[in-house]
Amino acid sequence: MRLRQSNNNSAGVGTPDEPVLVCGSGIAGCLAALRIASRSPVVMVTKRALGGGSTLHAQGGIAAAIGPADSVEAHLRDTIAAGAGLCDHDAAEAVCAHGPACVRDLMELGVLFDGGDPPALGLEAAHGAPRIVHVDGDATGRGVMAALTAAVRAHANIELLEGMTVGAVTRLDGVATGVECIDGAGRRCSMNGRAVVLATGGIGQLFPFTTNPADATGDGIALAARAGAALADMEMVQFHPTALAVDSSPLPLISEAVRGAGAVLRDATGVRFLDGSDGVSELSPRDQVARAIYRRTLESGAPVSLDLRHLDGDEVRARFPGISAICRENGLDLARDLIPITPAAHYFMGGVLTDTRGRSSVPGLFAIGECASTGAHGANRLASNSLLEGALMAELAAEETLRPRDAWPAWPVGTAREPLALGPAAPDWRDRLGTAMWSGAGVERSRSDLAEASRRIATLVPPPDAEAANLLELGEVVLEAAAHRDESRGAHFRLDRPSADPAFAHRIGWCDGTPFDLPVGTLAPIRSAA
Ligand code: SIN
Repeated sequence: MRLRQSNNNSAGVGTPDEPVLVCGSGIAGCLAALRIASRSPVVMVTKRALGGGSTLHAQGGIAAAIGPADSVEAHLRDTIAAGAGLCDHDAAEAVCAHGPACVRDLMELGVLFDGGDPPALGLEAAHGAPRIVHVDGDATGRGVMAALTAAVRAHANIELLEGMTVGAVTRLDGVATGVECIDGAGRRCSMNGRAVVLATGGIGQLFPFTTNPADATGDGIALAARAGAALADMEMVQFHPTALAVDSSPLPLISEAVRGAGAVLRDATGVRFLDGSDGVSELSPRDQVARAIYRRTLESGAPVSLDLRHLDGDEVRARFPGISAICRENGLDLARDLIPITPAAHYFMGGVLTDTRGRSSVPGLFAIGECASTGAHGANRLASNSLLEGALMAELAAEETLRPRDAWPAWPVGTAREPLALGPAAPDWRDRLGTAMWSGAGVERSRSDLAEASRRIATLVPPPDAEAANLLELGEVVLEAAAHRDESRGAHFRLDRPSADPAFAHRIGWCDGTPFDLPVGTLAPIRSAA
């Protein structure tokens, strides 16, 4: 193993003899590691087993404009429309343009998409054409991760450290030089690297209702913030409209593809309430559908259901085998029963502010995948664009980690900080955090609820463990950012400011607790990295 004590006198700054350190092992982390490893040694650190995390759970697939009547321009139009005025055009365009190559690259790595070559294309909400490829109907993440983890394990140039938690990104003279880690037995160690790539996923575990696995505790975002990196779009939490309303954590997802295949939504009285007559239909952008379901559930006091009973039962079960099995485990027949659903935290458009090469504001520190905020998704991610963005950013960041570091984005850099001190905490600590976040920064928000949630989470110090400390730090920023954006836009809906305000038609960055504007459509300012 390449572990060693950190050497504060070491140059260690982008020196080509150092490995690239990749933290996290979903689609972004694995693809980045594989791309870098063809030219440089990689050390890959993952806090549980290789290939855990959110990618594994992805049911919905990968959007790619490969249909005969489709185009990258049409995909881009849908992406930008969903993003509610906050998409970074260049980032969104790069993501959409990468769709066909992403599918081809994954096929080369052994991923078997449904329908073969060319793959079959499904329809999902807010897409103007069928353009989603899947694996085994509703198990895309599992199919992708099986291929990627096999390739990572087989690669001689990737040193894999599983069960290893990153406690800090080390910084020397303002440059990221490596990471400090702690293994399962509590042993601490440090590693230097020519670059640090964070690919650690989102923050779903901040909320009691989430489709994200237990790993989604925002570790990379908190680590980057403590190393002084700027964050962005921290108010932009996407709530998926249709998680199965059962008593479990995470909540099982009922993919948007189910509505794409014809499922309709009914309220507790059986009324189909999203038929498009008042501008919102079952296939409207996900923020609109989630809010309509949330409101109807609140008003009627009973869950909304998905109804597939008018569809061919055998076809439904064959097309969605994983979701059918989940329903069966919960005593439901996907094709014949009304399926109770609830909105749940699903994806974070916010995260570490990066450019389209994965560069954060701290030289040497990269972020890719859900822990990064490139602006590609704007205020509301279009379905099945996230694995695609993770794959693209893995390619671009991999290339950049190996280039000489001559210039770097000139966004604000904050002071490097220690993590919050841990201590004995109330046994219901997580419940209290989740309840405060859901009532303050859930599907509907208001200034007063946000302030109340901030007051409640301020009482949760000390946190019991490192993941809790990361969640607490990020929860504070999410609440602050949601109060700062004094309007409604995309996934961020403020009951007390229900309309969009042109004065907020820009992204918002955060550094050391201070907001700064990120005008949409301008390139990151560049400074010398020397
Ligand atoms: C889904 O299958 O509904 C989720 C897909 C996604 O989040 O992109």
